[in-house]
Amino acid sequence: MGVNAHRAVDIAPQQAYPLEKIIIAVDGYSSCGKSTLAKALAASLQYIFIDSGAMYRAVTHYFLQHQIALDAPDQVETALSNIQIDFKRTENGTFTFLNGQDVEKEIRGMAVSQLVSPVAALSKVRRAMVAQQQRMGQHKGIVMDGRDIGTVVFPQAELKLFVTADIAVRVERRYAELIAKGIETDRASVQKNLQERDHIDSTRADSPLKMASDAVLIDNTNLSKEEQLIMIKALADCRVEN
Ligand code: CDP
Repeated sequence: MGVNAHRAVDIAPQQAYPLEKIIIAVDGYSSCGKSTLAKALAASLQYIFIDSGAMYRAVTHYFLQHQIALDAPDQVETALSNIQIDFKRTENGTFTFLNGQDVEKEIRGMAVSQLVSPVAALSKVRRAMVAQQQRMGQHKGIVMDGRDIGTVVFPQAELKLFVTADIAVRVERRYAELIAKGIETDRASVQKNLQERDHIDSTRADSPLKMASDAVLIDNTNLSKEEQLIMIKALADCRVEN
């Protein structure tokens, strides 16, 4: 399987960054605004942005389409060898492509959200994703968000953030996001899914979600996107210069 990343150049940088590039890892619970933060940070630093969750979601979409049994290692292995994930950036946002097809809407729907954590708990799946993610970060200058980025994918990352927010705020944000994308849902299903995923992600044997000992904890319950970015940008600037 393979993944292609494109440089985040669509938003004009506020400052030139001739300095040494770093790796920024953004981890945290479901629907805490990690991707929003990571994307904005990458744009302002002219770094690559990778939503690693979209990769697990794309794999899950493939597994659903092809009815792959999660307890059949051979099926899982063959499926992984047939999966190619690409990210394409346009003025309207970033789109995830699975084997050449735009699956951005499908991977955000409830069917994928309900199966993604069991799929992401499989070691074979994790090994394939992590290898790709590490290749994407080999030249640094990358902001990646996920669950194990600061602990497993880039334990050497120069800046690690661990993002959290109150569950009610997370539910409201995700509900609004899904409705805006034309995906039908209700708040109770969103909350159930977020809590179930957090539980599976935090308790799985392989690479569980946990805060790296050297990560900075950000609770953005009462922060606007703009306030959060200003704060993190200041942190990133310190690390870039050090
Ligand atoms: O955006 P949201 O917080 O809903 O989740 P996501 O980042 O799209 O990730 C979807 C799922 O993929 C998570 O619930 C995890 O099960 C899995 N994931 C993972 O295991 N490791 C990562 N680095 C990223 C996501």
